[in-house]
Amino acid sequence: MKKSVNIGLLGFGTVASSFYHIFSEQKNEIDDLFSMPVNVKKIYTRGKSHPVPENIKKLLVKSAGDIIDDKDIDIVIELIGGIEPAKDIILQAITGGKNIITANKALLAEHGEEIFKKASEKKVHIGFEAAVGGGIPILRSIKNGLAGDVIKSVYSIINGTSNFILSKMTNEGGKFEDVLKKAQEKGYAEADPSLDINGTDSAHKLAILGRLAFSTSLTMDDIIIEGIENISQLDISFAKELGYVIKLLGILKNEDSKIEIRVHPTLIPSSSIIAKVDGVFNAFLVNTKFAGPLSLTGYGAGGNPTAGAVMGDLVETVSGIINGEGRRDFIMSKIKNKLNIKTKKDIISRYYLRFSAMDRPGVLSKISGILGENSISISSMIQKGRKVEGSVPIVITTHEANEAELLRSIEKCDKLDVITAKTMVLRIEDKID
Ligand code: HSE
Repeated sequence: MKKSVNIGLLGFGTVASSFYHIFSEQKNEIDDLFSMPVNVKKIYTRGKSHPVPENIKKLLVKSAGDIIDDKDIDIVIELIGGIEPAKDIILQAITGGKNIITANKALLAEHGEEIFKKASEKKVHIGFEAAVGGGIPILRSIKNGLAGDVIKSVYSIINGTSNFILSKMTNEGGKFEDVLKKAQEKGYAEADPSLDINGTDSAHKLAILGRLAFSTSLTMDDIIIEGIENISQLDISFAKELGYVIKLLGILKNEDSKIEIRVHPTLIPSSSIIAKVDGVFNAFLVNTKFAGPLSLTGYGAGGNPTAGAVMGDLVETVSGIINGEGRRDFIMSKIKNKLNIKTKKDIISRYYLRFSAMDRPGVLSKISGILGENSISISSMIQKGRKVEGSVPIVITTHEANEAELLRSIEKCDKLDVITAKTMVLRIEDKID
């Protein structure tokens, strides 16, 4: 008969220090819930960003091995991030029969299949709610609440830093660099903020979500990834004029067992629910076969929201240990064979095109001629006489078109002597809610 449950905490950065704080505040409630003490027994950290409070310095150990080899530790909470040494530590801890809780999206996206396979063999539980959507219980909703339904699509805002930047640029006209600095100061951004900006962080989260939503094997190479680095005030204001806002979306679609999985800046109608999700907030619009459309929004980054998700995993894991409920992440080990995943050339979408052209007669007819020859049908056009660095912007939106044909025609347009810069191409998603 178990008398206590013991935790080994790896890391003491933004999320881990918030976790410790929340855990201490909630400890009595948790002990009462399980009628036994749940303790943080050991902490291992190499970081110096968040000093470990004096009263818990006695819990500090010199190496991760001190936690992995401790037979009394039931749960390892890994909040150090990155691939190594986190991967090695987690695999060793699983081998030793320990349950894992982690917020490490990069690790699960890139090596999740190996980790879940090992966890399945050793019959231990992996809690990873904090890896996707910060404080929003999206994984639990899919894993448990929607376990008997069929997920048709998910439209998501899953990078707080990018959303913070885009919404500040949209609402206040702020400059990209200044807004990014603010996001870093608030602890939203990754250690390497280019992962936020170039779409990689969103793609990590989407890989985890996609595996869970569609029970399919997925690698990072299956995901179309584009970031927000080239989005300018010009695009934001043209989008506004057309009735759209630009968001970095993570998109999952399953139509007739053909999967689309992509991350890119997207024009979405300003009237849609997620158009209004600003700042560090994340959002998920899940369309299912039976329950219909569902939406979840909340803080997608930051210490307390993410640590809140770790707390949820902790309660679930302790419950499994004490009540012998076994693993709850079984869906991850029931991944089917790989479904058919669409590449860029198979995508059908509407597009926003911003050409930079010389202000000369005949320019428009040259562009529209090339689009027409490639079966690209124009939906709207804006041309204002304003000059931007010697050129005039011409904005065209298209009806639905095949991406391969679209890109072929843009390549031809960009070779015209009247086109002065690479054309900006963004996808439009009209039917998301
Ligand atoms: N850098 C991430 C974000 C943190 O901005 O959303 C949460 O995963």
